[in-house]
Amino acid sequence: MDDRHHRSSSQNLKTDIPQFSLHLSAVLLVKTTSMKARIWKKRSLEEMKARVFSALEQNVNYHESSILGVPASYLDDKVFNQDASFVKDAPWISTLIQNPNHIGCHTLGKSESFFKGTQEIEKELIEMCAVDILGAEVGTCDGYVASGGTEANMQAIWVYRNYFIAEFGARKDEIMILCTEDSHYSMNKASNILGVNILKVKVDEKTREVNQSDLTEGLHEAKQNGKKYAILVGNMMTTMFGSVDDLSPFLSELKSFDFKYKVHIDGAYGGFYHPFTEGDKQLNFSHPEVSSVTLDAHKMARAPYGTGIFLMRKGLIQYANTQEASYVEGEDYTLIGSRSGANAVAVWMILSQTGPYGWQEKVFILQKRTAWFCAELDTLGVDYFRHPDSNIVTIDAHFVNQELAKKYGLVPDNHHSPRWFKVVIMEHVTLERLEPLLEDLKSTLRVEEALES
Ligand SMILES: Cc1ncc(COP(=O)(O)O)c(C=O)c1O
Repeated sequence: MDDRHHRSSSQNLKTDIPQFSLHLSAVLLVKTTSMKARIWKKRSLEEMKARVFSALEQNVNYHESSILGVPASYLDDKVFNQDASFVKDAPWISTLIQNPNHIGCHTLGKSESFFKGTQEIEKELIEMCAVDILGAEVGTCDGYVASGGTEANMQAIWVYRNYFIAEFGARKDEIMILCTEDSHYSMNKASNILGVNILKVKVDEKTREVNQSDLTEGLHEAKQNGKKYAILVGNMMTTMFGSVDDLSPFLSELKSFDFKYKVHIDGAYGGFYHPFTEGDKQLNFSHPEVSSVTLDAHKMARAPYGTGIFLMRKGLIQYANTQEASYVEGEDYTLIGSRSGANAVAVWMILSQTGPYGWQEKVFILQKRTAWFCAELDTLGVDYFRHPDSNIVTIDAHFVNQELAKKYGLVPDNHHSPRWFKVVIMEHVTLERLEPLLEDLKSTLRVEEALES
């Protein structure tokens, strides 16, 4: 068993901290020169304002045009003051107030022409994420800004379920979702709502890697029970552990049991983090068998809620076409229906403000901070799990009492009988914030040692 990820992924970096800035430029230089963003650009505030305000001008103007047939308008002006002086300098607030409806998917076919300006921004965002974050070729992916990771995962599973039905005459009870026990519960929701089975394979308690014999046995049993089609969902950072799945054991077993399968990657948590670390990048469109990816901007990218991003290779999303959506201009291939265009603009602005190099730098710092925290835990002898390309540190519950968990807002794996508590090293989780937790962990350990002796 590989103990790499468990209590050994960090050296004691305490003395390295003052040298951060020296190392930072050198390391970033090496990393960033290899990063050739094709769509994603850093933009000044003035550039962003120009782009968003010009997009809004291309959208419908309810005051100046006679738009009589849509159940839509600007936000209620008695509540949301549209004349406030700052609004004209605030592209996102202006978009929110103008309330464009991005219903449908804008990367293919026709869309509602009322909101074509901001839809173009969404198209650019989808392309930025697919090409510059997830290794797709230009123009090869469709996608849209979903309500969140749950919807984006469900959208993928919906498309693949329909694909198996349409192309192979599959029955729903012959289709299953395949993922690990560390996968997000949105897989169970999708299984329930879409009427397909789910097989959650066990993982190793220490490495969080898939348990090979459980995988083989599970697939063997599924085959015997008449399953023929699998929707494999690989994790690019799990919710609780930040662990990253290796697709190879799944793919080779699926092949050996002769399943037809499609592969989706759940990067709801990790999509804006893991691609910027040093680790192996197989969970993206450069992998020929990966057909779709979820990434959530409302987690690590700190965008407003409602910014799940769904990306899929072209030629597949059509399996989720709702032909009955006849009053919508163009087709509706999405699960959700009406959705705010302000969400797409928010994510586009966040990414444009930082630019690809700035993002790389942000993740680099969080990686260093996480390594520092792990090194401190090592010194204390506290057990934890951390994937080397992750900013989640999941501490063994034996080391954390309820009082400590409450004081520091540590999230348990299970509120009834916690076995793990996680610390998520976000930008606000600084060394100053982590130090008191380490001090408290130290005192708790001292008290326990004293009680034992
Ligand atoms: C890995 C993963 N997938 C999916 C989700 C669901 O995302 P949302 O809450 O945006 O629906 C989460 C949320 O924590 C997650 O961590």
